[in-house]
Formats: sequence, structure tokens, C-alpha cells
Amino acid sequence: MTEPSEEAPNPFPKVTVVGAGTMGAGIAQVCAQAGCEVVLNDVGEEALERGMNGIAAFLDKGVQRGKVQPSDRDAALARLTTSTDLAAAAATADLVIEAVPEHLDLKRKIFAAVAGAAREDAVLATNTSSLSLAAIFDGIAAPRRCLGMHFFNPVPIMALLEIVQPEAADPQIVATVRDFAGRLGKEPIVVKDSPGFATSRLGVCLGLEAIRMVEAGVASAEDIDKAMELGYRHPMGPLRLTDLVGLDVRLAIADYLAKELQSPVFEPPALMRAMVAEGKLGKKSGQGFYDWSES
Ligand code: CAA
Repeated sequence: MTEPSEEAPNPFPKVTVVGAGTMGAGIAQVCAQAGCEVVLNDVGEEALERGMNGIAAFLDKGVQRGKVQPSDRDAALARLTTSTDLAAAAATADLVIEAVPEHLDLKRKIFAAVAGAAREDAVLATNTSSLSLAAIFDGIAAPRRCLGMHFFNPVPIMALLEIVQPEAADPQIVATVRDFAGRLGKEPIVVKDSPGFATSRLGVCLGLEAIRMVEAGVASAEDIDKAMELGYRHPMGPLRLTDLVGLDVRLAIADYLAKELQSPVFEPPALMRAMVAEGKLGKKSGQGFYDWSES
């Protein structure tokens, strides 16, 4: 991991995270554990409560496993506040990280509001896993401070931060975010604003091919996953991972990449479309390539 030097001041003491779902809550947690004052923003109190409960539960589990000191858990929780007022939450931030669902219009709307309220030197980041940053930030004032900070689920455990650099981004700001990744305990990579970046492009490609193999009866889902887990040391096979991410989420990304990259590699298999139409979305619906009803 990239370690920040002891003396280096935190470039982003105040962070606002927009969206309190799994990713937003995880991002808020790692920022708070890194010593930032964090405001977690969402449209409703219920979502915020769910997000905060998830963070507290994750930290508690960390304490039980001996991975987190009780005093560090308490300090991290004390650095977290919640807000349903996006403009107020953005106004005080040094860094705003957006982690709302993957809808371009929604993200554009949020950044228009954020840019209207935030300081002009505040850095604005999106956690999008595949959408074009040029499209998300189109029309935003001072695009030099806009970039992608793509985290991975479960955020507090996964070591990677994929930094996405749009053409208009200031390389100095990208370098600052790179250093900040070390403070968060993450290893950064920097990727151009290209469809699917590095991670989603390769990860979705593998997942889609695995589905095509199930469709063609090449092997069972369990055996295809085992092939990659034991043969390639992937921590989790591509079908189990698709279940975890959500078939609907992956289908939307595949449709987008097929269109943007003009490649049949990303054409979603008929089986995937059928499963999504039947509500077999993976873990969240209780059924995907695996039965999750007991978990
Ligand atoms: N607090 C602190 N540490 C914790 C913890 C907690 N609450 N829970 C677990 N850990 C630590 C464990 O102590 C362990 O640490 P060590 O390796 O030092 O022992 C480590 O985290 C792994 O925990 P487990 O051993 O319990 O779990 P595991 O071995 O079953 O691994 C996993 C879990 C890391 C999630 C693994 O299954 C994995 O890597 N899966 C693939 C995840 C993945 O691919 N994610 C990306 C999805 S795509 C995405 O997110 C991008 C997108 O845009 C959609």
C-alpha cells in the first residue's frame, strides 16, 4: 500500500459523501477512519440510518476480529455526521465523493447542485463504475477539480482505488488524490476516462463470458467459479461475484459498454436478460446463479 509520509497534512480534512448505500457508507467509513470529518448525505433519514448502522456494524465486527481498536472505532464514529441537505453538506467540504445509483441524469443533477454550493477549490469525485466522466461533469464550473474515485465492495477491505482522470482534470489534483488513497489504506491506479475504465471493462467481460458458458452448458456455475478460484486464485468466481454485485447492475453496465465500445464481447447473454426479467438479481433478491435465500 502507498503510505502517506508522517508529516504530510491531510489535503481533505472535510469530506462529504453523497449516497448512503453500500458503497457510500463504506467510503464514508474509510474516510472517517483516516481522520477526516465526514458528512454522509442522502435524500432521506431512513437511508442515512441504514448507512450509519452498517458502518457501526462493520466497525464492531472489526473490533471482534481484533482488526480495529475500540478507541479507533469510537473516534471514527465521532467523525461521522449525517445530512439530508445536499447544498449545506457540500458547502463545507474539501472533497465531495458521489456514490449514488448509476444513472447519468441523477449524477448530473447532483453535481450541478454540489458545484453550486461547494467552494470552487473543492475536489469533486464520482464513484461511478463505468459511466463517462465527461458526460457526468459536462457544464460544471472548474472541471479541473473533477475526477473519478472508484472504490470496490466491501470498501473497507478491498485494497484498490481506481482513480479516473478526465481530460480536463488538473494532474496536480490527480496526484493529490493519489496520495490521499494511501491515507485511506488503498493502492491507487490511474486510468483514463474510457468506458468501463480498467476494472469494470475486464471484470464485466469475464462475468459475461462465464454466463455464456452456463448458457451453453459447458459446466455448472459452481464448477466455472471453482475454475477461476482454484485455477487462477481469484478470491471469488465470476458468477458468485455477479450475484453479489447484482445481475441488474451488471446488465446495465454491459448494455452501456456494448454501445460505447461497439463490441459483441459486452453484448449481454440472453440468460442474463431472462434472469433479470424474472427478478433473479443475485444475493439481494435471494436467487441468482446461487440460492442466497438462507444468507
Ligand atoms: N473490519 C476489519 N477487517 C475485516 C472485517 C471488518 N469488519 N471483516 C473482514 N475483515 C478482514 C479480515 O480480517 C481479513 O483480513 P486478513 O486477510 O488480514 O486476515 C480480510 O478482511 C478478509 O476477510 P475474511 O477472511 O472474513 O473474508 P474472505 O476471505 O471470505 O474474503 C472478500 C472476503 C474480501 C470479500 C473476498 O471474498 C473477495 O475478495 N471477494 C471479491 C470481492 C470483489 O471482487 N469485489 C469487487 C466487486 S466489483 C466492485 O465493487 C466494483 C463495482 O463497481 C461494482
